[in-house]
Amino acid sequence: MKLLLTTKALLLLLLSVSLFACKQKNTEKMSINNEIEGRIDQLMDKMSIEEKVGQMVQYSGDSKATGPLKATPDQVEDVKNGMVGSMLNVTGAENVREMQKLAVENSRFGIPIIFALDVVHGYKTISPIPLAEACSWDLTAIEKSARIAAIEASAAGINWTFAPMVDIARDPRWGRVMEGAGEDTYYGSLVAAARVKGFQGSDLKNKTSIVACAKHFAGYGGVEAGKEYNYVDMSRRVMNDVYLPPFKAAVDAGVSTLMTSFNEFEGTLATANTYLLREKLKGEWGFNGFVVSDWNTIGEMVIHGMAENEKDAAELAITAGTDMDMATAAYRNYLVDLVKSGKVDEDLVDDAVRRILRIKFKLGLFDNPYKNCDPELEAKTLQCKEHLQASRDMARKSIVLLKNQGNILPLSSDLKKIAVVGALADSKPDMLGFWEGRGEAKDMTTILEGIKTGVSKSTKVLYADGYDLETFELSNPDRAISIAKESDAVVMVMGERWFMTGEASSRGDITIPGEQQQLLDKLLKTGKPIVVLLVNGRPLAIPEVAENAPAILETWILGSQAGYAVADVLFGKYNPSGKLTMSFPYATGQIPVYYNHRNTGRPELPTSDRWISHYLDIPNEPVFPFGFGLSYTTFEYSDLNLDKISMNMNGSIKISLSVTNTGKYDGEEVVQLYMRDMVASVVRPVKELKGFKKVKIKAGETVDVAFTLSAKDLAFYTKDMSYKAEPGEFKVFVGTNSVDCKEASFTLRD
Ligand code: NOJ
Repeated sequence: MKLLLTTKALLLLLLSVSLFACKQKNTEKMSINNEIEGRIDQLMDKMSIEEKVGQMVQYSGDSKATGPLKATPDQVEDVKNGMVGSMLNVTGAENVREMQKLAVENSRFGIPIIFALDVVHGYKTISPIPLAEACSWDLTAIEKSARIAAIEASAAGINWTFAPMVDIARDPRWGRVMEGAGEDTYYGSLVAAARVKGFQGSDLKNKTSIVACAKHFAGYGGVEAGKEYNYVDMSRRVMNDVYLPPFKAAVDAGVSTLMTSFNEFEGTLATANTYLLREKLKGEWGFNGFVVSDWNTIGEMVIHGMAENEKDAAELAITAGTDMDMATAAYRNYLVDLVKSGKVDEDLVDDAVRRILRIKFKLGLFDNPYKNCDPELEAKTLQCKEHLQASRDMARKSIVLLKNQGNILPLSSDLKKIAVVGALADSKPDMLGFWEGRGEAKDMTTILEGIKTGVSKSTKVLYADGYDLETFELSNPDRAISIAKESDAVVMVMGERWFMTGEASSRGDITIPGEQQQLLDKLLKTGKPIVVLLVNGRPLAIPEVAENAPAILETWILGSQAGYAVADVLFGKYNPSGKLTMSFPYATGQIPVYYNHRNTGRPELPTSDRWISHYLDIPNEPVFPFGFGLSYTTFEYSDLNLDKISMNMNGSIKISLSVTNTGKYDGEEVVQLYMRDMVASVVRPVKELKGFKKVKIKAGETVDVAFTLSAKDLAFYTKDMSYKAEPGEFKVFVGTNSVDCKEASFTLRD
């Protein structure tokens, strides 16, 4: 009894200590916030309207323009006069110091500039493109990758990255799918939060923290026909169900900025969209950071025909809640006038400026404007050993094994001769990819280099380019065939060039470009064991490769350590565990094809006749579905069990199962949980991801895996647009990808 009391007392004590600590932390946070708000008040009281508007202006250094470079006013003069809030594309500790000095030492209040860059998958050490990283299903590794990017960028003067891109993307023609996490809203939201935390770290004041920017707000992933900068037409329901949740997740994770998108929503451009910016983001979600326009989206309102001139465009943008103008200079040129003439309320400007200054204060730039301007630290940090090692690890995790007929893989590193065919195998820029930060092609490891270092001393590696890297036409295919014939295994590297994905890189036909397929067909005829390595930034339509190549590894664009990572997987040093986060279509005409589509009244069933939703010439199913990826070992799922068959709105249900590693290698499996709401007030998707667990399982061992679902996991925008779960029957599916699942069901009661 005495012991019990003591334990209870101890627990109470612990609880009150932790509550006290928590309270203390919150109070500290509040007083910091109050202090910051107080400092902003004091500053803004003294600022002229011109100086306030200056904070809302962002200019670009000239290095990476992603739109028209307008005839801008003298930027240096503007910086000196305190008329520039932010610069993008100015990098390097020295350069940043120089420009910061101009602002701090010349302007009336010495307000520091915030320096921005697209640090999308690394600054100097390049990690895999975000779509590839997402295929790791390893949120800790994804967060770490963003952390490393932040450590390097911050050492080189950068305070702000335009990442993560959290646009849901269901159309692989769109080149920007390489920047995001893929087609799924639930998973995309988790990745968004992980990347925000990685960039921003635990406190923006820290030297290695940089401000993250969730983009592009919103709906950009829905560009019609996958064509870059195209219009978007979607319902408010789809916007809320599919496209907005990753932004909300980023906001909940503390993201400090958002960027608007090029497209319109409900007929109004995102940069002038009051529903998105004021109602959802700054209203319902309580976002207190700031919003930057995308490149010249304010100016482009004129071209869209939404504003007569840039002055009107500026009025529309500030009214809707765009706080900073990237690269148009419309705010700079017209906002003061708009306020003075009474067309724009000064309170709107004050709110925008307060938001911008708040982030600068949080970064600690007012206390030390040169906090990221130490060239010695920069030299030590960029591409340090630890970062390169982490990049290699992330790259291995991002690779997806798509086929392994007859267990061709892993290859023995002891073979006598290996033929490597395909010019992409020997190309450094194609390992770097789009949005390269300040990474340089010369620092990338090619696949050929990786293979050469991965084999034993006695193994001979023969290489033939096989096709021309510019035209993708065959180039001396006979040599490729002859080295294949004399080798014990053939590695054929094929896919896309680095510039075929990224911004302004949509493709109307996403098959393998040029004559690469012909080369593969010739190689297949040699009868040698052939492994296809795909290099690409988007899902490709490759039914023939999938059908005929015995082994396929999707290696994406893997960054600095690409070659080593590929070799690790090829020769079995690392057992692949990646799973696709975007479906691979059968043909371009099947797009958009994604696993969580809604049902039709005439779905295709095993017993179906002609009058169903289908194509006459191609299947309905993608070649490789969402969640798909193999391992060198095999996994068996058994004993799917629900702890109850019904639950009420406050309850929860436990779903458990066993997974056995039935193969010869230790491995990792991403166990996926999907759900379907069988009857609802609006048509619901046929499947929705609701959870996953990445588990390590030793050869021969079994692990138990469990998930819990409660009503909040079943919620959606109902007929009247309220967000809640509706009672009724639900199916759950647990499996190794979105198609191969075991099923059970339960009922949700009112
Ligand atoms: C335009 C792109 O859409 C955006 O993602 C990028 O951050 C800006 N350019 C700045 O480079």
